[in-house]
Amino acid sequence: MKERKGIILAGGSGTRLYPITMGLSKQLLPIYDKPMIYYPLSVLMLAGIREIAIITTPQDRDQFRRLLDDGSQWGLSFTYIVQPEPEGLAQAYLLTETFLEGAPSAMVLGDNIFFGHGLPEILAAADAQRQGGMVFGYRVADPERYGVVDFAPDGTVRQIIEKPEVAPSPYAVTGLYFLDGSAPERAAKVEKSARGELEITSLLDMYLTDGLLSVQQMGRGYAWLDTGTHGSLLDAGNFVRTLSERQGQQIGSPDEIAFDRGWIDAEALRARAALFGKNQYGDYLMRLLG
Ligand code: G1P
Repeated sequence: MKERKGIILAGGSGTRLYPITMGLSKQLLPIYDKPMIYYPLSVLMLAGIREIAIITTPQDRDQFRRLLDDGSQWGLSFTYIVQPEPEGLAQAYLLTETFLEGAPSAMVLGDNIFFGHGLPEILAAADAQRQGGMVFGYRVADPERYGVVDFAPDGTVRQIIEKPEVAPSPYAVTGLYFLDGSAPERAAKVEKSARGELEITSLLDMYLTDGLLSVQQMGRGYAWLDTGTHGSLLDAGNFVRTLSERQGQQIGSPDEIAFDRGWIDAEALRARAALFGKNQYGDYLMRLLG
């Protein structure tokens, strides 16, 4: 059985956050003390994934590489893939076909932040499902901004609708997609939507039609944070700060996860901590060494 591989989609123009994102990719912006992409990367790591493709725009690729390097500092391996034009989320599976080599994947959007007790367990369960796809439904106040789950009266999922004018339910589909090895082949059959994009929801609908999609609820104990507006970006940073300072525990630290999982040894963690010796993140990593 092939190991599941990861995809982080960090393309896009970020126009909603202009002027901030005119000179810098959205996914490199700070969420309190770490770059945004650290958080979705941590989610893939918590799912046990070590081989990851990072999709960026042509102009941002070198900055991501400067930040994230080849991944070996965390016992990971990164492959950088350029998305020449942003043509929708499903395009990611066309761009990663060679990288995936038929393996199942977990794709996370580079601006999605997840937090919650039990996250490693639901990720492990998603990873264990080898056939079909699994996505997560999360209750939000403004579902129209997302892909939305349409439930039949008996509770089964009828359809997933991209940015509906009137949402059929309050359940948005989060930007974390566990799909089997058939995703690139299916993505090739997706047709462009009215807004000119290869919609992820069209791809998910193909799985659904074949009876191969499960929608797992991410309950109210979880936080799925939005970073799509200036206000929500600041809120996400404040959330991370509030929780991590109160508990004295990091949220979204690839260094901590890599060490915990035994993907790097104490010496490697010490080298990372030394890089951040002047701040509390470095102090935190030092404390992990005991
Ligand atoms: C995308 C997807 C949408 C999903 C959302 C999650 O929307 O198209 O289905 O619910 O991500 O963040 P976008 O961010 O491209 O507007």
